[in-house]
This record gives sequence, C-alpha cells and structure tokens, in this order.
Amino acid sequence: MTQIIDGKKISQEIRDSLKARVAELKKKYNRVPGLAVVLVGDDPASAVYVRMKGKGCDEVGLKSFQHILPESTNEKELLDLVEGLNNNPEVNGILVQLPLPKHINELAVINAINPDKDVDGFHPVNTGKMVNGDECLLPCTPAGIQELICRYAGDIKGKHLVVVGRSNIVGKPVANMMYQKNDRANCVVTICHTAAPDISVYTKQADILVVAAGKPHVVTGSMVKEGAVVIDVGVNRIPDPADNTKTKIVGDVEFDSAAPKAKAITPVPGGVGPMTIAMLLSNTVKAFEQQNS
Ligand code: GUN
Repeated sequence: MTQIIDGKKISQEIRDSLKARVAELKKKYNRVPGLAVVLVGDDPASAVYVRMKGKGCDEVGLKSFQHILPESTNEKELLDLVEGLNNNPEVNGILVQLPLPKHINELAVINAINPDKDVDGFHPVNTGKMVNGDECLLPCTPAGIQELICRYAGDIKGKHLVVVGRSNIVGKPVANMMYQKNDRANCVVTICHTAAPDISVYTKQADILVVAAGKPHVVTGSMVKEGAVVIDVGVNRIPDPADNTKTKIVGDVEFDSAAPKAKAITPVPGGVGPMTIAMLLSNTVKAFEQQNS
C-alpha cells in the first residue's frame, strides 16, 4: 500500500512542539521571538502566503510584524525598511516575500538582510554555509522536504535522490542539503532540468524523487521507479477538467499514475506546502535562540 505523506499532520506536530519551546523562551527571557514579513505589491498568491505566515506566528506564540507596501514602493524605501528591521531588537527574523516588483533588484534586497535574521536562508552567507555543510539558517521549503524524507524514506544513506528543477528556492538548495555527510542526508544526488533531452532517464533511477519544476504533471507514473519516495513541490493552478468554469491546484507529478508505483508520495495540496511555514516558524525560533546565546 502506498503511504500518502501527510504534510499537514507533520507540520502541526512541529508547530505544537514550537509552541512549547516559545512558552519556555517567554519564561526565560520575558519576551518571544519576532518575525517581520514584508510584502510589496498586490500579487494575490503572495498576499495569501503572507497572511498564512502571520497566522502561523499567532498560533505558536511568536510576535508578528507585517509590512504591506504598495507596488509603487521603490528600492531605496524597501532597503531602508530592511535596515530598520535589521536594527530592531524585537525582530529576530526577516522575510521579504518574493517575487518583488520588477523595478526592485531582488538580490540587492536579499543581500541587505542581516544573515543572522535571514529566516528564508536566501542570503549568500547562509547559502555558502549550507554548501559547506556548516550550521546555518536553511531555506524553508528544502528543510521541509528533508524533514518529510527523513520521516518516510527509512535509511537514506547512499540512496539515489533525483531532483527535477534547479531553482534557487528549491532545486539547488535541496540537492546541496541532501548530499551532505550527516545523518539526515548522505544521499547520492542527481539534478536534472530543462536542458535534459529526456528527464525520465534520470527520474526512473530515483529511490527518492523530488520534483520542483514548476510545471503541471511533468512527471507521470511511467517515469517513477517502483518503490520510490516521491516528493511533489509543485503548486500549479490549471483549468478543472471536470468543470471548465473552475480551476484546481495540481502538482508537478501526475498523482493518479505515480501513486501506485510509489512507496510514499506527497499529495498537492497538503504535502510539502504546510511544511514550509512550519520551517519558517522553526527558523525564527532558532534565530532568536542564536541571537540570545
Ligand atoms: N516566494 C515563494 N516561495 C518563497 C519563500 O520561500 N520565501 C519568500 N520570501 N518568498 C517566496
């Protein structure tokens, strides 16, 4: 029987344990970790994510600072806000929701965040430490994927993990994290991407398959090895084939054909998605602890 990986349940377990940890920190320091989330513009999907991050903070007892800025905000104004947050002792974590409007240089903004407060793990200081296998704030979606793999894939040492996609947010970091020499990784890792003439050559060899291509149903059942653990990172809105007046959310993996082949598989929604917020909250608590140690 294929196991359906319940990201919602695991995310809840993590948030419950964070709630207890935050209560302990409150006793010890008489204050709680704070997370600042910055949204520029009115992208509806980003607005939903930012609201969910605020709700997550409330749930575990973190202080949340939300900065919702108009599309017309210029780069200097955003950099000034980031500098203010860097200097605010109540703010332990800073997240600037991406993508930013085109007139703002994303890299300049990421680089301006104090690496100690970079709870997204996107600052080059943190990505450099991650590649070197040093202690750092890890990016949230890859950290959530690693948690799911560790819970569902059994002994992963020496297993072949194949990543489809090479984005800075998921593909590159998850590949880097999973070949590191530690108990939560130590896989043999292959990355395949749009330049591969046929990605199925690689996906069929995967004991663990992480699909983060950003394209609906790029991986189908015939491309999955029998007994693989399949992690679908895709969130794609497509017209609903059952009702053409509606849309629905699907992953990068065709669930119905892939699930019977897999030992375990994440659904979309309800797989990787809920893990990202749990890891963001966890990074905020970790940042607080490091800043106070
Ligand atoms: N946009 C999509 N995913 C992410 C993320 O993990 N962090 C930020 N800051 N923006 C995103």
